[in-house]
Amino acid sequence: MNLDTIARVALQAADRGGRALCRCFGNLSRIDKKGRIDLVTEADLASERVVVETIRAHFPHHGILAEESGRSGGDDGGTWIIDPLDGTTNFAHNLPLFAVSIAYAEGGVVRHGTILNPVRGELFQASAGRGATLNGRPIQVSRTSQLASALLMTGFPYDLDKTLDTVVGRLKACLAMVQGVRRPGAAALDLCDVACGRCDGFWEERLKPWDTAAGALIVTEAGGRVTDFDGVAFSPEMPSILATNGAIHRALADLLEPAGG
Ligand code: IPD
Ligand code: CA
Ligand code: CA
Repeated sequence: MNLDTIARVALQAADRGGRALCRCFGNLSRIDKKGRIDLVTEADLASERVVVETIRAHFPHHGILAEESGRSGGDDGGTWIIDPLDGTTNFAHNLPLFAVSIAYAEGGVVRHGTILNPVRGELFQASAGRGATLNGRPIQVSRTSQLASALLMTGFPYDLDKTLDTVVGRLKACLAMVQGVRRPGAAALDLCDVACGRCDGFWEERLKPWDTAAGALIVTEAGGRVTDFDGVAFSPEMPSILATNGAIHRALADLLEPAGG
């Protein structure tokens, strides 16, 4: 499949999704719970509706994996992996830090990623082998090579009650060694921040393909490295992700893994 066409449709879909989100922002009449702290709002649903509609209109036979509606469509050709609103908890609290994330994969390998932060007007894109861009300009990961100078980002899974000790163990191990750790609340944007060098690394466990598929490609196309905590190369189905500028990858993996036991 022509990646230029894919990128064009992904942009159109992200743009429509982003507009739907901005219409609802600060204006939510309904917030439901999928779990104790896992929310879904009318904004998630409205964005997903227009993103899926846009992709279907162009590629009626492609498969779709979208956070709120699950799998649909065929599997001949490509699969689109969609997070219509990454950062739902931020959104529900009127914190303007959220995104639409759209990936396109063939044979389980991500070939294109588009992530739009509609509030900041930041569009991150990458196609396999072609580099990564922010608003059309090439981006690169940072050059930080020492953990002591590294700014990291992380996130916490919704089923924290089952994983609290491990999550806190990993956080503690990192806090003791690095310059700082942030928890912004939208994994797709955390990955973009690694890709454009605003931070040097990101880790999180128990993520889903829609959280990571687009962002992981954007990081690798920006010159970074993405694996699980054991160093296994990224694939969208893997729940744990470590994305760095490459230079601190090994050292950070060594910090994270002992905490996991
Ligand atoms: C969540 C965000 C958050 C991360 C969670 C994700 P959602 O996605 O990316 O930063 O810590 O693990 O599930 O629910 O806002 O799409
Ligand atoms: Ca998400
Ligand atoms: Ca979401």
